[in-house]
Amino acid sequence: MATVVSLEARERATQPAVGAATPTRLALLGLGQVGSAVARLAPAVSPQLERSLHITGALVRDVLRRRACDVTVTNDARSLLDDRPDVVVEALGGLEPARSLALDAIERGIPVVTANKSVVAAHGDELLDAAARRGVPFRYEASVIAGVPFLCTFARRPIAAGVTQIAGIVNGTSHFVLSRIQTGSTYADALAEAQRRGFAEPDPSKDIEGGDAAEKLAILLRHFGRLRVRPSDIETSGIGSITPADLTQAAVFGATIKPVAFADWTGSHTPAAFVGPALVPAGHPLAGLRGVTNGICLRGPVCGTLVFSGPGAGPEVTAATLLDDVVEALADRCEPREFEIATSCRPEAPRGLGWFVRLRSAGRLPEAVDVADLLASHDVWCSRTSSTTTADGCESRWLQTHPCSEGRATAALDALRIGASCDLWRIPVLETIDAE
Ligand code: HSE
Repeated sequence: MATVVSLEARERATQPAVGAATPTRLALLGLGQVGSAVARLAPAVSPQLERSLHITGALVRDVLRRRACDVTVTNDARSLLDDRPDVVVEALGGLEPARSLALDAIERGIPVVTANKSVVAAHGDELLDAAARRGVPFRYEASVIAGVPFLCTFARRPIAAGVTQIAGIVNGTSHFVLSRIQTGSTYADALAEAQRRGFAEPDPSKDIEGGDAAEKLAILLRHFGRLRVRPSDIETSGIGSITPADLTQAAVFGATIKPVAFADWTGSHTPAAFVGPALVPAGHPLAGLRGVTNGICLRGPVCGTLVFSGPGAGPEVTAATLLDDVVEALADRCEPREFEIATSCRPEAPRGLGWFVRLRSAGRLPEAVDVADLLASHDVWCSRTSSTTTADGCESRWLQTHPCSEGRATAALDALRIGASCDLWRIPVLETIDAE
């Protein structure tokens, strides 16, 4: 049975003063880190918005749990919607009940704003269709790089943008962890700090193994390429295999390693895409970013290279963008529907990138020149190489190849792994972006 805990004293404190202009009534789905930040921020930003934002109630699973927020909590979602809020703010995360409740609100003519990348990536079409049919705003700016309002900007500028390639750091937690490892922290300490600061997902393996970034890349592909891909169809790898020695050797090669989401659909309706660590040359716009900061390079024949960066994770920044979306929704600004029509496709492996390769052997590796010759016999050309040997005689070698097709790289590196009887790990190399 549904339970409503009415905190009368608290509610009186959050009610607008008698005589104030009619408040905007928000129903909050979820009171986790992001939902709580929305509840804290809404009264604080009311004067700035020149309208009072009043939270009618928050949907929670456990109504008896003590919380720091001054909002009425309920576990009865329908009663929140029956109360006819002006906007629903969805901060539940996950697919269900987020999807059903967002659809229910839209069907009732109530605008919805969300930070939930899982639901937008998996059910964006359904939600956008329902919103278009009902003429109700459905906004999701906070779902990708929450602190940088670039989705809405380009929804209104699709022709001027004409984006055909995306390279971004869209997961703050994995970037934070890698940056901390680079400055001497352990993986476990860095991840614990990301969790403490509210950057990580409830299941942080989604951050570390790339699932979160794959969902965001699927959203970006629909938004910029009108391409519908399933996150699970994007080739995804995590940052768990990167060692401090890899980061050091990347620097020796004049580069760094970043958790990247990449897609290129230049001249094609089938994007080449991946999510995972990549070697990023020092001059690339993503190379200088640190910590939880996200960044994205959008490229196309018309727009050239557009670079955005800013905070991408954290309850406060996400809540602030959700509230900005509330204001947009109240102004009845929907995303232009015609640019959401998507073609279904399954992404291919990246084309024409170089590779950063680590070879590791319990004993000695073949001479560098022999490795280069073997690769060359498969038409794969080494540009750099460097080795270290540990005290126990194990040798590691890193090399970088010139750009080549994925098929050629796989054949050459498989032959090397078998021929040299070694462990082999590789990540793609992003191409240098020259200032024009
Ligand atoms: N866990 C996500 C991240 C939160 O670290 O980027 C923002 O989507």
